[in-house]
Amino acid sequence: MTHHFDTKLLHQPSYIDKQTGAVNVPLHYSSTYHQQSIDEFGPYDYSRSGNPTREALEETIADLENGHSGFAFASGMAAISSAFMLLSAGDHVLVSKDVYGGTYRMITEVLTRFNIDHSFIDMTDLNETARNVQPNTKVIYVETPSNPTLNITDIEGVAKVAKAHGCLTFVDNTFMTPLYQKPLDLGADVVLHSATKFLSGHSDVVAGLAAVKDEEIAAQLKFIQNSFGSILGVQDSWLLLRGLKTLSVRLKQSSDSARKIAQFLHHHPLIDEVYYPGFSFHAGYHIHQRQSTGAGAVLSFRLPDKKSAGVLVEAMKIPVFAVSLGAVESILSYPATMSHAAMPPSERELRGITSGLLRLSVGLEDTEDLITDLRQALDKVGAYQTLQV
Ligand SMILES: Cc1ncc(COP(=O)(O)O)c(C=O)c1O
Repeated sequence: MTHHFDTKLLHQPSYIDKQTGAVNVPLHYSSTYHQQSIDEFGPYDYSRSGNPTREALEETIADLENGHSGFAFASGMAAISSAFMLLSAGDHVLVSKDVYGGTYRMITEVLTRFNIDHSFIDMTDLNETARNVQPNTKVIYVETPSNPTLNITDIEGVAKVAKAHGCLTFVDNTFMTPLYQKPLDLGADVVLHSATKFLSGHSDVVAGLAAVKDEEIAAQLKFIQNSFGSILGVQDSWLLLRGLKTLSVRLKQSSDSARKIAQFLHHHPLIDEVYYPGFSFHAGYHIHQRQSTGAGAVLSFRLPDKKSAGVLVEAMKIPVFAVSLGAVESILSYPATMSHAAMPPSERELRGITSGLLRLSVGLEDTEDLITDLRQALDKVGAYQTLQV
């Protein structure tokens, strides 16, 4: 019997400890494993190569993403960087132009040193994507919805272009999680996560996950994981397993609030623009509807300038003002100096990451309280703007 997603979050074959019946995966704090003889090795030998607690998490993400294998890394960037190690010198990567700032930094400042080239393109346009594939392109890298401007890329369309040219498709699925979007089902080869965000959900873990469908790619990524060694530790694997169990209730409730907040901001006269893929007038709405089952809990909005954004940040009482997203508490952030600080200002402007842009990751607080907080903070922005004229 195949279970629905919400049931899978709570019941995995590895969750019940075979020895004791404990309903939570034990914390296997062991770096090494006793072997029977010089010829007989058990399933584990050294925890960089495999650890039962981490393995329970890896099997879970593989199942949730409808993949063959899963891999847990020390951070989202460790997952992304390890996936890029599938490439070799001389290869080229085609990348969505608005990706997370750390991914941008890895591609522009690290991969280039290993002679792996890149082109940033508007991946919302499939023709542009196909036009920019080069003979040495090996990976098309997608982030959808993108961080922080929530642009939508057609995963299935990109995966078709990639296959036609013999390239792999990588998808950063951090914003949607497998609850709302399953890139492997849409033809992607590697799905990547900053599990620091919605998957763990409590701002208490830094972690990364990857899932793949193909056995050959799984073997290659397993080899990289063991060779590069940026594995997730035992305690963090356990915390992430615990956080995952409530993913569905958390994300559904936060997404419901985000929709109401996006509508409130859209109608507010001081807001220049709201970026939210749940709006029927969002440029990528129809593609997003086709490939995802929810709009998510992150939205961005634009005030006219940095000073107005600063007034709002200081006036808001409920959200924490911090880097990161996808937690039980709402998180307000300023992409220009936080998530996208690694991008030069001119590149940020090109991607719509302007000085008045704020990103809100909606948590589990009462929706009305959040709207009331935003309303009073925007009143203060209005008062500040009146003083300026
Ligand atoms: C979309 C996206 N991908 C990847 C990352 C990197 O993940 P981590 O911070 O866990 O290394 C982030 C972090 O903010 C992100 O937002």
